[in-house]
Amino acid sequence: MLTVDEAFRKFKSRLELNDREQGNASARQNEVRDFIVTKFSVERSFLTGSYKRHTKTKPLKDIDIFFQLGDSERHYRDKAPDVVITAFYDALVEKYGSSAVRKQTRSVNVDFGVVVDSDDNTDYRVLSVDVVPAFADGNDYEIPDRDKGKWIRTNPETHAAKATAAHQAYSSEWKGLVRMVKYWNNHAGSGEKPVKPSFLIEVMALQCLYGGWGGRFDYEIQALFETLADRIQEDWPDPAGLGPPVSDCMDTPQRDRARRLLKDAAAQATVAIDHVRHGRNGEALKTWRQLFGPKFPLS
Ligand SMILES: Nc1ncnc2c1ncn2[C@@H]1O[C@H](COP(=O)(O)OP(=O)(O)OP(=O)(O)O)[C@@H](O)[C@H]1O
Ligand SMILES: [Mg+2]
Repeated sequence: MLTVDEAFRKFKSRLELNDREQGNASARQNEVRDFIVTKFSVERSFLTGSYKRHTKTKPLKDIDIFFQLGDSERHYRDKAPDVVITAFYDALVEKYGSSAVRKQTRSVNVDFGVVVDSDDNTDYRVLSVDVVPAFADGNDYEIPDRDKGKWIRTNPETHAAKATAAHQAYSSEWKGLVRMVKYWNNHAGSGEKPVKPSFLIEVMALQCLYGGWGGRFDYEIQALFETLADRIQEDWPDPAGLGPPVSDCMDTPQRDRARRLLKDAAAQATVAIDHVRHGRNGEALKTWRQLFGPKFPLS
């Protein structure tokens, strides 16, 4: 029978990006770019966000593509964020149709209509991308935020460097743990995700995973849920020190709910650990599966 450690390793590798998925993401990026460049002057476009940092969970959706616009598009920067988002939306609707395209706070989402099976598999395909219009600002970028009605600053390279440093300081287990908790976040709480945005989990993990990898996935995850619960009500600034606080999209009731659900997850993890202590390996696996969802293996 599979041990809990073996199950976690399998779970971790199931949440890793593989070559076929990267091939599909790159093909989708090229497809969207080849169309967008017929509509806007684009200086550069690139895959970014959690996808680029390897902290995205499965199934792969909402992969961020930044479109750094050229000087002739600068007029958008002087207008409300909604104007450029609407221009991108209108353009993408021409190609993909209005049922596949959605305006979001900082991007336009394009859904490719990929089906997810009951095991969360997608035949290695990406479900959707987030198309983000951006202007270069020195080494940083400015992107539109429709909720705030302002352009916000960001720096994907700084976020990537912090993630890499955290990963190295944690015996190269940090990104795997982040993907696991983000996977939990997609399944827990029936309907609304407990933690919003899921980037907040990564931002908190920069501080909530400390002291080095202890060697056991079950202990690490239990402690991580506990610490996330204890600190979810704090304010979490952009780790690059440029954008608005990453924690600013949950109000007090949402933070209370996130804390409760994270506490429940920590308690369930304790139950699973206790099963192993009493020799009930099968029960432990079932408890972890129930906590995380279908990609956690039972065999
Ligand atoms: N408040 C913020 N300030 C500055 N940059 C931000 C902020 N929020 C997000 N970003 C940057 O924009 C990127 C895309 O944001 P998004 O919400 O898609 O997060 P993500 O890390 O890609 O997570 P997910 O796996 O949920 O897609 C982030 O990876 C981060 O680099
Ligand atoms: Mg993203």
